[in-house]
Amino acid sequence: MARLLTGLQPSGALHIGNYFGALKPFIDLSREHESFLMVADYHALTTLKSPDELRHHTLDVVRDYLAAGVDPARAVIFKQSDILEHLELAWIFECLVTVPFLMQAHAYKDKTAKGLEANAGLFNYPMLMAADILLYDTDIVPVGEDQRQHVEYAREAASKFNNTFGTLFKEPKEHILKGIATVPGTDGKKMSKSYGNTIPFFGTRDEIAKAAMSIVTDSTGERPENVYAIHALFREKNELDSLYEANQGKYQALKEALIEDIEAVVAPLREKRDAISDDDVMRVLEKGKRDAGKIASAKMAEVREAVGVR
Ligand code: ADP
Ligand code: TRP
Repeated sequence: MARLLTGLQPSGALHIGNYFGALKPFIDLSREHESFLMVADYHALTTLKSPDELRHHTLDVVRDYLAAGVDPARAVIFKQSDILEHLELAWIFECLVTVPFLMQAHAYKDKTAKGLEANAGLFNYPMLMAADILLYDTDIVPVGEDQRQHVEYAREAASKFNNTFGTLFKEPKEHILKGIATVPGTDGKKMSKSYGNTIPFFGTRDEIAKAAMSIVTDSTGERPENVYAIHALFREKNELDSLYEANQGKYQALKEALIEDIEAVVAPLREKRDAISDDDVMRVLEKGKRDAGKIASAKMAEVREAVGVR
């Protein structure tokens, strides 16, 4: 069975774009694969410098995933910082790739293009991500378009290692999820935490209603396109088209219908989420640590042997 691994940074509240773009497709794919879901807390440390926030987001992200339907009995859910082999392998890859190669990475280039100074962690970010992926002999990495280059970097790290020390690593393939990066926010641009235009997925009814009511409706056509695009995630096309035809120009009514439809999907999940305690999350992460740890330590033993530190 092909092995699937993806990671996400614990950096803030899940929004509707994250759910339909990343989480739901992962849940669908994980039914047919051996799946690994990693909370990339060491990656988050490249930007986040608040221990409380990091701890809090780490627990929350796992809770979101469990509530949304990731089954911890089928997928290994684990925290990057629990498996120190990731850092060890990243170092080995860093000794194989060149500085000019890492300088081509988008995250680093974007930062420096803005005149900002990148920390060395951000510079080496792609090699830690390569270690995340390669340590588990991953076949498929489901990610958004923005992560395509990072998976290419992982393939490059695998091939450099294999050519230098003998073949130990599989070259993984990215699986760019359909519809990724396309869920629009309340202002019509891509929904993103960084643009402040999100509809929170696990928000209260009021928070969701407030965000939905603020969706911009200055469309030139007959239909409020931004409302419709978000609504299409929650209701079947034929039904949606008749609803929008019957309510032409009635933006308020359409938004209210959208809020009801979001509520119908989210309310039961929100209840499920509220019932997941910190202890439940911790138990899932403990199990993940054991399961992922076994694979990582066996693989690292081979790697140490191959490079000559054992
Ligand atoms: P954000 O842009 O809000 O910071 P992240 O970069 O943390 O989101 O993305 C987490 C995952 O959700 C990624 O796989 C990303 O591709 C996906 N994603 C983020 N925003 C959207 C969106 N508006 N539509 C579809 N997928 C999205
Ligand atoms: N860089 C990814 C992001 O920001 C998160 C990530 C870390 C990841 N390690 C990974 C994704 C391994 C896939 C596989 O979204």
